[in-house]
Amino acid sequence: MVDVLLGLQWGDEGKGKIVDFLAPNYDVVARFQGGPNAGHTLNIEGKRIVLRTIPSGVFCERPCNLIGNGVVIDPIEFLKEAKELEAIGINLRKKLKISQKAHLIVPTHRLLDAASEAAKGEEKIGSTLKGIGPAYMDKTGRNGLRVGDLQSPDLKVKFEQLKKKHLELLSLYNYAGDSGELEKKWFEAADYIRSLDIVSGEYFINEKLREGKLVLAEGAQGSMLDIDFGTYPFVTSSNTISAAACTGLGIPPTAIRDVMGIIKAYCTRVGGGPFPTELTDATGEDLRKAGHEFGAVTGRPRRCGWLDLVAVNYTIMLNGVTKLIVTKADVLNIFDEVKVCESYTIGSDEHKSIPFDITAAPIVPNYTTLKGWKTDHAMKTAADLPASLNDFMQYVHDKTNVGVSIVSIGAGRDQLVTF
Ligand code: GDP
Ligand code: IMO
Ligand code: MG
Repeated sequence: MVDVLLGLQWGDEGKGKIVDFLAPNYDVVARFQGGPNAGHTLNIEGKRIVLRTIPSGVFCERPCNLIGNGVVIDPIEFLKEAKELEAIGINLRKKLKISQKAHLIVPTHRLLDAASEAAKGEEKIGSTLKGIGPAYMDKTGRNGLRVGDLQSPDLKVKFEQLKKKHLELLSLYNYAGDSGELEKKWFEAADYIRSLDIVSGEYFINEKLREGKLVLAEGAQGSMLDIDFGTYPFVTSSNTISAAACTGLGIPPTAIRDVMGIIKAYCTRVGGGPFPTELTDATGEDLRKAGHEFGAVTGRPRRCGWLDLVAVNYTIMLNGVTKLIVTKADVLNIFDEVKVCESYTIGSDEHKSIPFDITAAPIVPNYTTLKGWKTDHAMKTAADLPASLNDFMQYVHDKTNVGVSIVSIGAGRDQLVTF
């Protein structure tokens, strides 16, 4: 069976840490969408590691890791990540398989990403500028290069054809950029990928399922950044919801058992776009400081705000979440009181659903105030959790109808409590 684990907010919910914790229970950990726009932080023996394209099960003995067809891979970024892992003893030739159908990001995709953002003026998406959008555009436009093409004698010809198209587009944007230096690196990195285990991901994973093996599908970004259901156009370019695990790995929906949805005990967003519970005051600043809320990929300060249950209930619905995981509960320890948004007031109406155009009219979040936990006790087991934190989780359960199965109370690998 397949369990899917994904973020229910705008990304950075702590997926990497939780996948690393759960990985010993699985035979395969698989990424199914996104690319190096993701930054999944793991703490391994005191060392902070940020994974971008490689699944977060790579530090665990048991599972094999798969990069599925739904992922977009930049060989240059991939090689950097791989070398860091190899330097600390991870054997990717043994631990990792890559779908031959995963699409490739080429250097001119990055230029196109930058040109597209520059052309947007004030209304920038705040893209990570990793070439994600242009690569997915070439995928759906049927122009893309795939990992399997790295093994083709025509690779150079295909690459040049795609580059030519990109240069024409870039001239329309009037965008001057040079990908020459990156191109050399790209081909070197492509050689490295060719030396890894490139497989038919869909046959590989379905064979595992037939053998009764357990698969953990690791989402990237968050459901509010989904291309269809997120705060469009301020979204990423892939489907990030549980349905994408099927298309991004080649598994049937009937193979899915649990959908584990992660939320921070508050909310963050990096990049542009609507964020109804954003706190632009000193409280937001306190949250950013206490939660070290700076992007794992770009280092940008993350925008911070209170937990938004309108958004969370929306994404629970889209994903069919069966278990909730709450992270960064320790960060709220600084507050006497914490707030949770239960509905929005737009104009004179109260809403419990996400409007079509979330930017059209000002949204006033309606908050319920709960008692903070402010504990100086070490929280190691369920018995150590302060009553007010248990009340917070019960409140979330009551408002979402989904129980909390894990609460995370620190960045460390073992800083969490399971129920
Ligand atoms: P991801 O993209 O969902 O994997 O999340 P990121 O790695 O981008 O961001 C989560 C950040 O919070 C990382 O720096 C983690 O090390 C950290 N983190 C994860 N869980 C906890 C937690 O429970 N408490 C605290 N304080 N930090 C956490
Ligand atoms: P993880 O997996 C948070 C955001 C970007 C931008 C928008 C589009 O670490 O949770 P893109 O580069 O995809 O074209 O950017 O999406 N974004 C993320 N925000 N966490 C992520 O990944 C993100 N990946 C993309 O900041 O607003
Ligand atoms: Mg992240």
